[in-house]
Amino acid sequence: MSEATTTAPKVLFEITEDKLNTGLRGFPVGTCRTSAVSPTLGVTYVGYTLEQLKDKSAEEVIYLLLHKELPTPEQTEAFKADLAKRSEIDPAVYDALKALPKSGHPMEWLITGLSLLGMTGKSESNDYKEDCLNLIARISTLVAAIIRIREGWGDPIQPRFDLPFAENFAHMIGLEEGGDVLADLLRMFYILHMDHGGGNLSTFTGKAVASGKADMYSSIAAAMAALYGPRHGRANQECLAFVKEVGTSDPVECEKRVRDIMAAGGLVYGFGHAVLRQEDPRATIQYAWGEKHFPDNELVKTAITLRNVVPPILQENPKISNPFPNVDAVSGSLLTAAGLSNPDYYTLMFGWSRVAGIAAQIVDERPFPGKKDGLAIYRPKYIADGQPASRD
Ligand code: MLT
Repeated sequence: MSEATTTAPKVLFEITEDKLNTGLRGFPVGTCRTSAVSPTLGVTYVGYTLEQLKDKSAEEVIYLLLHKELPTPEQTEAFKADLAKRSEIDPAVYDALKALPKSGHPMEWLITGLSLLGMTGKSESNDYKEDCLNLIARISTLVAAIIRIREGWGDPIQPRFDLPFAENFAHMIGLEEGGDVLADLLRMFYILHMDHGGGNLSTFTGKAVASGKADMYSSIAAAMAALYGPRHGRANQECLAFVKEVGTSDPVECEKRVRDIMAAGGLVYGFGHAVLRQEDPRATIQYAWGEKHFPDNELVKTAITLRNVVPPILQENPKISNPFPNVDAVSGSLLTAAGLSNPDYYTLMFGWSRVAGIAAQIVDERPFPGKKDGLAIYRPKYIADGQPASRD
């Protein structure tokens, strides 16, 4: 018998009965090459902290997720040009979007839009790599068109091949205000939200759907449906509503309002995290950006006051393991200050960014090293409950 067959595999996790029906929380189910989430460092992309990546271009960080190393300046230029030339979408997509009910949530538009992109532009041979690059390039064009058409701001604005990724997105949204500050915020927002390990609900869902060999567009549409839920991506909308409800940057008044909201049974949004046990570095970076660009904006100031006021209040409850700000705590306040003031679009913006990470992870699983057909179809086991073993 060979050594490989006699060595018992390492036990990573004990599956005891109390772990059933807990949303797979903490269960190791696979490996991830793009990013990792640690309780202390937060998310790192291929080993780089976000502090190290926050000033890069969107294209450099996308390249990192896809190639597992940062590009040289020449590779960056070539990659920018490649993405730019892939960024146009079929006019039939715009026509179909124009017929959608405005009452639909922007995420419902996005899910529909992704299917439309697939119907009009997917590769013939279900080439995940090719579709990943096209989708990353086209998502800005789609999301900007959704905002413009749904808001009634006029026809979609075509992508410009000469502009970097985030500037191009700002150009296609077509807001009068904002200018360079909005473009820089979008660049930072995109980088901070791009990826978050393999187990967050949207990424897991996207990879699970791709494991059945559905194409990249359908897999990402499914991932975006997962992101749409208020416990996942839609939390960033609720956060802005919470900051507005508190409505004051005065620390004493702010603490009183938070306590009043909690006493009335209301929730505190933007604090706590599934994995992190300290302030989310994505929040830290955004606070610093807000202090630099919008030091006098009342909403941003309120979010910054909440950063100091909320954790000690939450720490009074010993059951709360992480009372610190997460990625959503200030993002809505920054987007509002920069001119994107309709919170209905914040989950859409999250989706715009997360597509790159999910698509890169799907590419990593199909094919997978040593398995040219990719990982097996996802098929966890459910244990029968409340049913007789047989009715015979
Ligand atoms: C996040 O970005 O914080 C996540 O997608 C949530 C999670 O990791 O579960």
